Amino acid sequence: MTLLELDDLKTYYRTEDGWVQAADGINLELDENETLGLVGESGSGKTTVAKSLIKLLPDNAEIVDGEIRYKGADLTDLSMREIRNRIRWKEISMVPQNAMNGFDPVYTVGNQIVEAIQVHEPETSDAEAWGRARDLFDELGLDEDRVDDYPHQFSGGMAQRAMIALALAVKPSLILADEPTTALDVVIQDRILRTIEELQDEFDTAMIMITHDMSVVSESCDTIAVMYGGRLVEYADADTIIKNPRHPYTLGLRNAFPDITADDQELISIPGTPPDVVDPDEGCRFAPRCPFAEEECWEETPEPREFDDGHIVECHRADEAPLLREEAARKETWQQVAETEEPAQSPAGGASDD
Ligand SMILES: Nc1ncnc2c1ncn2[C@@H]1O[C@H](COP(=O)(O)OP(=O)(O)O)[C@@H](O)[C@H]1O
Ligand code: SF4
Ligand SMILES: [Mg+2]
Repeated sequence: MTLLELDDLKTYYRTEDGWVQAADGINLELDENETLGLVGESGSGKTTVAKSLIKLLPDNAEIVDGEIRYKGADLTDLSMREIRNRIRWKEISMVPQNAMNGFDPVYTVGNQIVEAIQVHEPETSDAEAWGRARDLFDELGLDEDRVDDYPHQFSGGMAQRAMIALALAVKPSLILADEPTTALDVVIQDRILRTIEELQDEFDTAMIMITHDMSVVSESCDTIAVMYGGRLVEYADADTIIKNPRHPYTLGLRNAFPDITADDQELISIPGTPPDVVDPDEGCRFAPRCPFAEEECWEETPEPREFDDGHIVECHRADEAPLLREEAARKETWQQVAETEEPAQSPAGGASDD
């Protein structure tokens, strides 16, 4: 059953230079118990999308358009107070990017978990709530006795795990996990992802897993949405995104992380940096970094197109995917962009010469 539906969500930030179109027309759907990976480099708009759901946005942010349908209701219609009382934690909990900031420094971590449990389930006894906090610590690889510590006594990685414990303790229907394993080493990362999965199954929880790391989403997500410059550029089930991506940005991201395509894969990074999306020009936002950009790409913003089974791609050349995949696997393809002044030359034909 559909739990969450984003319909053309637009969240912008007001700045001295104009509106930053951080989330610009996002369409997503999430079923109960589903895990969606929201992927993209830093600055793509991932955190903005997540924070829009529970109105945790800074003062200069505004949801300028769109709907956030959650269990049938539009969350954009709810006041801050309603979101705080009815939605945040109870329905949707968030593991923030900087987990330490999620805790109140003056109470022990255990106290905060127990309080959260008892606010949402007032019938829970102290003993039961403390027991649940300790069990969660144990399952997430933290020493149970650390529940009595204060947040400042935790390292960044431990605080992240404690925050995951807090987010799960209240048994929400949806968890927003913003880079939940970034501060952890690979072995612990693996273990945490497996534990989260088990707990999700146990509590029937859906999750939006935000990460810049394609290898994390390939292992733990049912569907993957790729964001770039505030747009959702590719969206499909995880298998399709990993094996048959169509968007050049996804192809670039896939090259930059190990263990996805081949054992002896050479890691290739995408040259350049994500755009500043203040009043962007017409055209594809990825064009300055795309090795396949053609004249049309600079002049016309690509519309989302649907391929098989709900595979959505926003690229003028999405139907040339086999050719693009082949070209994108070569380091020279991307080097050429780094060496070329805008507009980029296309190695797969159709070079723009102005
Ligand atoms: N408070 C803010 N004011 C202005 N711009 C912001 C603010 N927060 C984020 N942004 C901009 O919005 C864009 C998306 O940011 P964010 O959602 O944090 O991306 P991500 O989580 O993918 O790194 C970036 O260009 C960022 O600089
Ligand atoms: S081929 Fe064109 S439309 Fe597609 S990602 Fe590259 S620049 Fe954008
Ligand atoms: Mg972020």
